[in-house]
Amino acid sequence: MNIAIKTDGLTRKFGDFTAVAGLSLTLPAGGVYGFLGPNGSGKSTAIRMLAGLLLPTGGSGSVLGLDILTQSEEIKKQIGYVSQKFSLYSDLTVYENLDFYGGLYSLKKTERAGRIEKALALTALTAQKDLPAANLSGGWRQRLALGCAVLHKPRLLLLDEATSGADPDARRLFWQLIYRFAAAGTTVLVTTHFLDEAEHCDRIAFIQDGAIIADDTPENLKASLPGALYKIPSPDPVGLLEGLSAQGHDMSGAYIRGQSLCVRTVGAPPRFAGDGTQKIAPALEDLFIYLVEKKRAKRHRP
Ligand SMILES: Nc1ncnc2c1ncn2[C@@H]1O[C@H](COP(=O)(O)OP(=O)(O)OP(=O)(O)O)[C@@H](O)[C@H]1O
Ligand SMILES: [Mg+2]
Repeated sequence: MNIAIKTDGLTRKFGDFTAVAGLSLTLPAGGVYGFLGPNGSGKSTAIRMLAGLLLPTGGSGSVLGLDILTQSEEIKKQIGYVSQKFSLYSDLTVYENLDFYGGLYSLKKTERAGRIEKALALTALTAQKDLPAANLSGGWRQRLALGCAVLHKPRLLLLDEATSGADPDARRLFWQLIYRFAAAGTTVLVTTHFLDEAEHCDRIAFIQDGAIIADDTPENLKASLPGALYKIPSPDPVGLLEGLSAQGHDMSGAYIRGQSLCVRTVGAPPRFAGDGTQKIAPALEDLFIYLVEKKRAKRHRP
């Protein structure tokens, strides 16, 4: 099996604070992998260590067969990375940004021009090539960042919330590009807060407090949710939730979706369920809520 990323107990501390707490992960080459987790769970810190931009304080790992502790310079050259923060130069044009990155990746002048044209065509930015990056809308900016990250044809793409700030149509276009790279054999690792995007991944790692708490295909993750989910229609789901809590029911995993209250129960349907209650198939969001609540409850247990 060709391995794109392998880590063993990968850890990063900032002073006394542990941002990434012993991540062990093996990603075969090819396919789209997702890191999903609450704010501050350590996704960006983990990605930055994989990108050769931040040294781990513990554990080990390799990326495209290169050691993240000793070969970070080589890793930076071989992978494509789109950071969560704005990584473009606002006062340079679209073309100049691409040219700048071409220089960073040491592409020769003759080769660079051809690659830039291809990147412009791929990201559908040819007509915008002379616009300053500052004038681009969110979705276009993200596509440009991706174009810059793939100029040197990397075998691994690390995309940290690359679609934040893009509207649904722009996100759809962006994902088409991701699939195109994956189909051509590129390994893609993304972080996202969009659960619909996570559904598009071949495999997802849920990260919380710097550790992986689940790691599987979206289908298996959804199937792993214990118990059953019920949707209780109500004209006042907030009132229903508060009322049931006041009556002493455990509503920790319950949430409101539109004009309904969703409740997970193990065993029989909830006693308080009235007419119209439907059993529903879990979405990734349900598993996410369950895992986060479970971890939180564990943390708060004395
Ligand atoms: N350079 C740093 N110095 C100190 N603490 C840091 C540093 N970088 C990150 N942290 C902390 O590490 C934790 C994890 O941050 P990280 O950015 O990796 O989370 P994240 O999962 O990417 O969050 P988000 O979803 O908001 O992007 C946070 O509590 C953050 O404040
Ligand atoms: Mg982040």
